[in-house]
Amino acid sequence: MSKPFDFDIGRLTGSGNDFTRAAVVFPQKPETFTEAVGRGTFFLETFGCQMNDHDSEKVAGVLLARGYRQVETPEAAGLILYNTCSIREKAAQKVFSRLGEYRARQSEGKIIGVLGCLAQQEGEDIFERAPWVSLVCGSASYRKLPEMLAQLEAGNHRVTGLDTDTDETFETEMTRRDNPFRAYLTIIEGCDKACSYCVVPYTRGPERSRASDSILREVRQLAELGYSEIQLLGQTVNSYKDPTPRKMRFAKLLLAVADVPGIRRVRFTTSHPSDFTPDIVEAMETEPKVCEHVHLPVQSGSTKVLRAMQRTYTREEYLEKIAMIRGASRPIAITTDIIVGFPGETEADFEQTLSLLDEVKYDSLFSFKYSPRPNTPSLKMEDAIPEVEKGRRLAVLQDQQREIQKARHAKLIGETHEVLVSGRSRRENQWSGYTSSYRLANFSSAAQELLGTYVQVRVTGATPNSLVGEHVV
Ligand code: SAH
Ligand code: SF4
Ligand code: F3S
Repeated sequence: MSKPFDFDIGRLTGSGNDFTRAAVVFPQKPETFTEAVGRGTFFLETFGCQMNDHDSEKVAGVLLARGYRQVETPEAAGLILYNTCSIREKAAQKVFSRLGEYRARQSEGKIIGVLGCLAQQEGEDIFERAPWVSLVCGSASYRKLPEMLAQLEAGNHRVTGLDTDTDETFETEMTRRDNPFRAYLTIIEGCDKACSYCVVPYTRGPERSRASDSILREVRQLAELGYSEIQLLGQTVNSYKDPTPRKMRFAKLLLAVADVPGIRRVRFTTSHPSDFTPDIVEAMETEPKVCEHVHLPVQSGSTKVLRAMQRTYTREEYLEKIAMIRGASRPIAITTDIIVGFPGETEADFEQTLSLLDEVKYDSLFSFKYSPRPNTPSLKMEDAIPEVEKGRRLAVLQDQQREIQKARHAKLIGETHEVLVSGRSRRENQWSGYTSSYRLANFSSAAQELLGTYVQVRVTGATPNSLVGEHVV
């Protein structure tokens, strides 16, 4: 899905070091480059997770700072960039089919670049499979993007950035954010866990945390620009380790972000169960600005399968974390990720996942059929589960979860929740937004303008995936 680009609602921010300088960089004369390549426009399509979405916001910032203009179609662009995902095979296939569609474009003089996880995974092989590609760059090398762009501008046709052994995080002078209300902010890059099915440690490199003072500086800039909701990102966001002498713990960082004047909500995703410590729950209890939602992927309810997945916790240990969260003085919504059909997953193992769902009663979940990925240890595991059986398990699991969500949402009818309004429906008087617990609420209001404001919504109805309500004035 391509991200909408609308300069009126997107926002430019200087991230990291020097915002004032960023403001100066942007209007610098772009003509030299524009004349040299006769293009000056870019189209950027993003696949994958929120970290990729945010990387694209930073890449767009880098390009805008160099005088490029963002356009909405590949046809209108001189530079076509795909920020890719390779978490499952389908995601990777989608990228190659998209690249195939643009094969002919190269002859029109367009430059095509592949960024992100598939770029890192396939490396220079992408040039073999799609010789019309000129740029291949993984996320750990985005710091070199300006340099790489300069090489392309100089007429170089094959440019790569594939190092992962960097301890730097990608901070740009300017970030062009898509969402005008909620700002993503990556606090930890890469991943040091070694889940046996997962490409992320290979595609995003080792774990690197961003300095707490730099994070807080960006939050202050965001607040000054009018952002009130901050979403801290990381593949294992709660494994955050402040590299500065302050050594600020993750829970303290949540509180420090919430403390910035103007900030009203702080979210964080994704949490790893093994690093989910009691002080995080305490921070959520003491500071209402820390949103009442934890995304805590479990992957399987069977300890045997968890061990094969190298998930570093047992079913029981995971359930202890759930009990800790459920024991908080505020209600906290819990969501998760599940993989069905991991090699060796028996019917009994799968039933343990189903019973875990019944026990935890998640507010929502993402579920996936296991997909064997290059370089991962599970690729060589025996007892693969047939695709049809994976499909059956997925359907059973999703049916069960739908019932759980229906029941959980029904209980909310009659309650009043605060919603940050982020959408307006074409239907008159209809608005939408998210609660602190990250539930989508569609509601009616006679107000003229609500976008970006916080309103109280009384829940009058519910579907498994959303709440229906009315604005309480
Ligand atoms: N860092 C997060 C999630 C990363 S990827 C965590 O540790 O939980 C998002 C989700 O994709 C994972 O939680 C997992 O459920 C799923 N996933 C990852 N690799 C997969 C694979 N090879 N096949 C199927 N699903 C996969
Ligand atoms: Fe992948 Fe595991 Fe790291 Fe999550 S924690 S990104 S699933 S290796
Ligand atoms: Fe995909 Fe990379 Fe995110 S593989 S899920 S884009 S970290």
